[in-house]
Amino acid sequence: MAPVPSLPIKVGHIDDVQELRKAKPATVPERFIRDMADRPKVVPNLSSSLDIPIIDLSKLMKTDKDEVMHLKTACEEWGFFQVLNHGIDLNVVEDIENVAKDFFMLPLQEKQKYPMAPGTVQGYGQAFVFSENQKLDWCNMFALGVEPPCIRNPKLWPSKPINFRETLEIYSREVRKLCKTLLKYIAVSLGLKGDVFEEMFGVAVQAVRMNYYPPCSRPDLVLGLSPHSDGSALTVLQQGKDSSVGLQILKGQTWVPVQPIPNALVINIGDTLEVLTNGKYKSVEHRAVTHKERDRLSIVTFYAPSYDIELGPMAELVDEKNPCRYRRYNHGEYSKHYVTNKLQGKRTLDFAKIQSKTSN
Ligand code: OGA
Ligand code: NI
Repeated sequence: MAPVPSLPIKVGHIDDVQELRKAKPATVPERFIRDMADRPKVVPNLSSSLDIPIIDLSKLMKTDKDEVMHLKTACEEWGFFQVLNHGIDLNVVEDIENVAKDFFMLPLQEKQKYPMAPGTVQGYGQAFVFSENQKLDWCNMFALGVEPPCIRNPKLWPSKPINFRETLEIYSREVRKLCKTLLKYIAVSLGLKGDVFEEMFGVAVQAVRMNYYPPCSRPDLVLGLSPHSDGSALTVLQQGKDSSVGLQILKGQTWVPVQPIPNALVINIGDTLEVLTNGKYKSVEHRAVTHKERDRLSIVTFYAPSYDIELGPMAELVDEKNPCRYRRYNHGEYSKHYVTNKLQGKRTLDFAKIQSKTSN
């Protein structure tokens, strides 16, 4: 997962935001302050009609036709939904949240035993920083490759908290099952055979990223996580139980907050499914904002095809009305492209876009 950069990358000084929070400087350091246009507007009072769709997996598993249609609309119009009755034991969900929180609460020296080297995406630190003047996110990340075993970097799997590794293994197994199930119904909702993605993906790549957003004295000036789309096929995001609202998705011109629902997981379509469906299902841009008094934790799993596979829009989704919008490429190359560029909205998909007068 983490490519070794060919040249040393100079990222400058990166403040650890939890330490900054403890030190309580009078002002937010310059590197975190966004340009005017990128600053979040702190007006969370959007109408509830703008809430993202909720899908009941237990209904999907009975192949309830209405729920399959509901899933189809969610993927076409939102690229995001929350899934209820996802089948993952509540203890498993709670355990991962606890070990993630315990990890972030360790002293900095302990966390720094697992550093994310500049230009790579595994370990503790800030990913996607490639220059000394790049703006920073108000977030601490801890990311690990999980499956297949060859993408693991065992040196980065922490020994504290002691139950971290085992908990992550159990959680990842459950989330993997969920991804396979969701992909099956996503295929059905497209009118395709349920196993098309499973057959196509080979041994799927799975990585986890835990994001911790401490409170920020000026949430109006900073971003928790820069706008981006995910490079995955599917992403599963778990929001910490007592977390503030922080995830926002771009719907048209509006940033819509995702209201946490107890026991639900947030699912989103990544770039890979957008390409495979020839743009029918959207990989939607999203970001995270911070809160003045409350912290926030998210545990995010990225599920993607094996690096060896070649992919492009599926023939069933290309016709005269829907001309092919993306070229074929090797998924490993796309992943490399993704992790070696800063997060910048949907820019990363330009890699695959066929530029024509009619495409946008
Ligand atoms: C991500 C992501 C949002 C969040 O990690 O890719 O979009 O709410 N996270 O933490
Ligand atoms: Ni994301």
